[in-house]
Amino acid sequence: MSRAFIIAANWKMNKGPHEAEVFFEEFLKGTERFENYLFFISDINLHVAQKYLPQNNIGWGAQNIYFEEEGAFTGETSAKALSEFGATHVLIGHSERRQIFNESDEWVSQKVKVAQQFALTPVICVGETWPERQAGETQKIIIKQLKASLQRADLSQKIIVAYEPVWAIGTGQVASVEQAVEAHKTLRQALNQLKPDLGEITSILYGGSVKPENAKELSDPKDIDGFLVGGASLSPQGLAGIYDNSSF
Ligand code: 13P
Repeated sequence: MSRAFIIAANWKMNKGPHEAEVFFEEFLKGTERFENYLFFISDINLHVAQKYLPQNNIGWGAQNIYFEEEGAFTGETSAKALSEFGATHVLIGHSERRQIFNESDEWVSQKVKVAQQFALTPVICVGETWPERQAGETQKIIIKQLKASLQRADLSQKIIVAYEPVWAIGTGQVASVEQAVEAHKTLRQALNQLKPDLGEITSILYGGSVKPENAKELSDPKDIDGFLVGGASLSPQGLAGIYDNSSF
């Protein structure tokens, strides 16, 4: 069964609205093949995504939501508001949220649920730390994170999974193709255990120091269905270079 190949940009807490405009003006001029991209940008820039991306059929959304529908949650963004604004996707459980903001699997699962309630496709991030990998716990950790994150999910609706080894994020230390493939196979099997064939239809992205230079070898294996890109997605050339070098 064929799965969509996706190149998702996670700008993290970078760029203001002006820089975002400049990026999209240049990026959209540079290519006509847009359907494989997704953009996750900070809330303050979402109006720029709303202006440029829907007419090009590019999916976009926030890097986080809160799981309550509305209420006294100062500083948070609801799935309801994000959906009304026109977003199509939302990033959930990124390791920076898990580590810096103490986000638990329990919270992640509630966020996945509310995202789906408001027709946002969740991109659910999992990944082990370096000490966990060294202790031989990678498979156990990512299965646990995935299953816990999906415990409230409607598995008849589309989800996207991103495998991001924490030690490869922003470090330049990319996972080897073998390490990435092993993790992706593990996640696919876990998805199949949750629901027959779920692993065959769900795109699993790799994230962690993806660049134009390593995109080809990482995109070759059939188990890697695309990328979640941080640093290299901040320039139109970096992102388009990853697309151009990927084999899919
Ligand atoms: P880098 O591509 O900068 O390593 O970031 C990966 C990431 O965290 C994407 O979500």
